[in-house]
Amino acid sequence: MRSARAATAIAGTNIALVKYWGKRDAALNLPAAGSLSLTLDRLGTRTTVRFDGGATDRVLLDGAPAAPAFAARVSAFLDRVRSHAGILARAEVTTANSVPTAAGLASSASGFAALALAASRAAGLAPSPDELSALARVGSGSAARSIFGGFVEMARGARPDGVDAIAHPLAAGDGWDVRLVVAITAAGAKPMGSTAAMDHTARTSPYYEAWVHGVDADLAAARGAIAARDLAALGAVAERSAMRMHAAALAADPAILYWNPATIAAVERVRALRAAGTPVFFTIDAGPHVKALCAAADADRVAAGLADAPGVLRAIVAAPGPGARLLEEAEA
Ligand code: PMV
Repeated sequence: MRSARAATAIAGTNIALVKYWGKRDAALNLPAAGSLSLTLDRLGTRTTVRFDGGATDRVLLDGAPAAPAFAARVSAFLDRVRSHAGILARAEVTTANSVPTAAGLASSASGFAALALAASRAAGLAPSPDELSALARVGSGSAARSIFGGFVEMARGARPDGVDAIAHPLAAGDGWDVRLVVAITAAGAKPMGSTAAMDHTARTSPYYEAWVHGVDADLAAARGAIAARDLAALGAVAERSAMRMHAAALAADPAILYWNPATIAAVERVRALRAAGTPVFFTIDAGPHVKALCAAADADRVAAGLADAPGVLRAIVAAPGPGARLLEEAEA
């Protein structure tokens, strides 16, 4: 066997402004509809993969052995990379999140984007950005978007093999200096993972079809708003996409409710700031946290307002960030 090969990659998480909620194929994470997101700078994942030929794959998450279910998911992902590369060696994966893992802060998006890039490079592959996006998607649907920086659109695709279910950056948004202020409303992991929740929504919610049906119109409106740098228009799409996603989940049987009292307090604070003249708009993912979209100049005020809302633990200001990238050995 060749000597151990290692690579380290970092990726920023992304927050969807037009949500992905539902799959047309669960094995490959092919989405039922497109989605649109903003990749962030400060919140993300750094992952080192070392194909060292140990007896098994070993996964360290934030300094401790990962839970068996997560380790198995990483190992299955590595199998796909190994089969592309024609190698058999097991690997050590060391991954660290700068966001609370599995709390609805999209650590799986940055995590599988960083893993796709680090594992491919460590295995001696040189995938194109499109190929990386498709690979990352198999780890987590939203990870396909974190391969690229800034505003990103994910295509639904039509093919059963998923080569066209990939993301691409929206150049019209380059340099638009918006911020996402993340209001943390709870500590710890979310109650139901996104894959199980999407499946449950698709099977039991009478609103699921209507949800999927509405996504294309939201995508068109979001694209137009980004091209026009119209924050109010983009914010309106983001709020209705999030509320419709949650409405579909709330109508599942039994209902999926991700919100806590601080979630509602943060939403009300965003609305109050807006009523007082600050253009700020909320979105909520598969967890209780609230993310507020605003102009860079308003971010500190929005963060202070959210941090002060009842039950909010803290607020983090994040700016648009770059796509997934490899670190040189000296940096790793
Ligand atoms: O990538 P997943 O399977 O964790 O799903 C992400 C789902 C949402 O974060 C709720 C929406 C989105 O588009 O990111």
